[in-house]
Amino acid sequence: MNQIKIDIDRRTSLDRNIFGGFAEHLGRCIYGGMYEPDSPFADENGFRTDVINALCRLQMPIMRYPGGNFVSGYRWMDGVGPQSERKARVDLAWNAVEPNEFGTNEFITWARKLNTEPYFVVNAGDGDMREARDWVEYCNGTVDSALVRLRRQHGYEEPHRVKYWGIGNEVDGHWQIGYKTPYEYARTYLEFAKVMKWVDPSIKMIASIGSDWKEQWIERTQLLFEQASKHLDYISIHWYVGNRHNDFADYMANSELIEHRLSAFEGLIDAMRLQYDIKRPISLAVDEWNVWYRTHPSYGNELNGLEEKYNLEDALMIGIQLNAFIRHAASVKMANLAQIVNVIAPIFTNKDGLFLQTIFFPFELYSQTAGSESVDVFWQGATFSTAEHSGLRLLDVSATLDEARRTLSVYVVNRSQDDALETTISLTSGAFAGPVRAAVINGPDIKSENNFANPNVVGTRESELTAKDSTKFTYSFEPHSVTALVFAL
Ligand code: AHR
Repeated sequence: MNQIKIDIDRRTSLDRNIFGGFAEHLGRCIYGGMYEPDSPFADENGFRTDVINALCRLQMPIMRYPGGNFVSGYRWMDGVGPQSERKARVDLAWNAVEPNEFGTNEFITWARKLNTEPYFVVNAGDGDMREARDWVEYCNGTVDSALVRLRRQHGYEEPHRVKYWGIGNEVDGHWQIGYKTPYEYARTYLEFAKVMKWVDPSIKMIASIGSDWKEQWIERTQLLFEQASKHLDYISIHWYVGNRHNDFADYMANSELIEHRLSAFEGLIDAMRLQYDIKRPISLAVDEWNVWYRTHPSYGNELNGLEEKYNLEDALMIGIQLNAFIRHAASVKMANLAQIVNVIAPIFTNKDGLFLQTIFFPFELYSQTAGSESVDVFWQGATFSTAEHSGLRLLDVSATLDEARRTLSVYVVNRSQDDALETTISLTSGAFAGPVRAAVINGPDIKSENNFANPNVVGTRESELTAKDSTKFTYSFEPHSVTALVFAL
């Protein structure tokens, strides 16, 4: 019998920013996804309302923009002012031409409609600190300066109050315009952050550390702390996983790699805080994460606008990653699903509409039901093995508590391809009050996917159950499924 034991007294606050998103000028994310003025779905700003409505269901509190690799060659000034006067530029990151019709003010307007907090990344590739500082002034400035006047002239009297600013994207990757050695980045970060904070001391800063996991991320972190710890709020890491060898068990075992990376960075940040006597917290931002391999050139595949088509096993992988963020809530204070529409995304459009990819559903479920605290879970039961790992638990579990509503949400990914797993869920303190809402994401098999012709093959099924015993509840988790059990306490 499988067992999940929950101790609601052992909890830590969960930052809703772990349900963030990321939009890049890449393929059909902005143009043809978020923004398509000649679409029948467009509003007066040219924003696709069907996309906004679908995104609203994901309740993303924060949105990273404008890249990604794109930002390392981006001039923000190209994207402001009258659209008719904006210049198209070559985008070397994605070998494209950027029309610059959509820029800072369009994004802010779009983000405010969606009720999501903008998070800008500045160009630390071929851009300089002057440009970065000017962008902060243009967005957030209130004094009577030329840049603030320019923003007003562009129609934005009030400051945008952009709170989150990242310095550079994946600067550790040799594929990046303006790759930086650990020392170069530590110095760059310090000088950029200094002047950006002088313009607006209230902003939060995110440092780009780990994306090429073969690079020297320990040395990078150490040098960054040594040089710039007083301007550090978040350390950013990125990862993408995939079923690269078409081996389901091996794919599901990515939980171990994720777990390892998160605990390694937690330890590293902790050690640095001790060494440099830093009392305030410095958090982890996993500000790009997802499944990406079918359109990844590193695996010999065509880029194809990164228009990855997701299946059920990928939805399980989303649940596994969200479980890890919840379990590591003490250190992971931001995570951004990369990306939001068309480009490795939960939403896929064409001219006539959209469909929701399989990965949409676990994200929606967790984002809508997660409470404000992560609670401690212990679980044991049936296991599986791979060439690399043995004794991995088939269930992957996390839980959150909503103190105000007195609900406990238990998230379970069943990684068994064939077996339903009967499981006892018990509380070490507190009591189930009766009603239990069960939401299950599943489909006919692990390769099932949604598309325009069959948009509902994989989705969420809901039912109402009752906990008859106040401290114990037995439930059978379907094979290859993601389940949330929301208990009234
Ligand atoms: O999200 C797609 C790309 O993945 C981003 O541009 C880059 O930051 C990462 O390598």
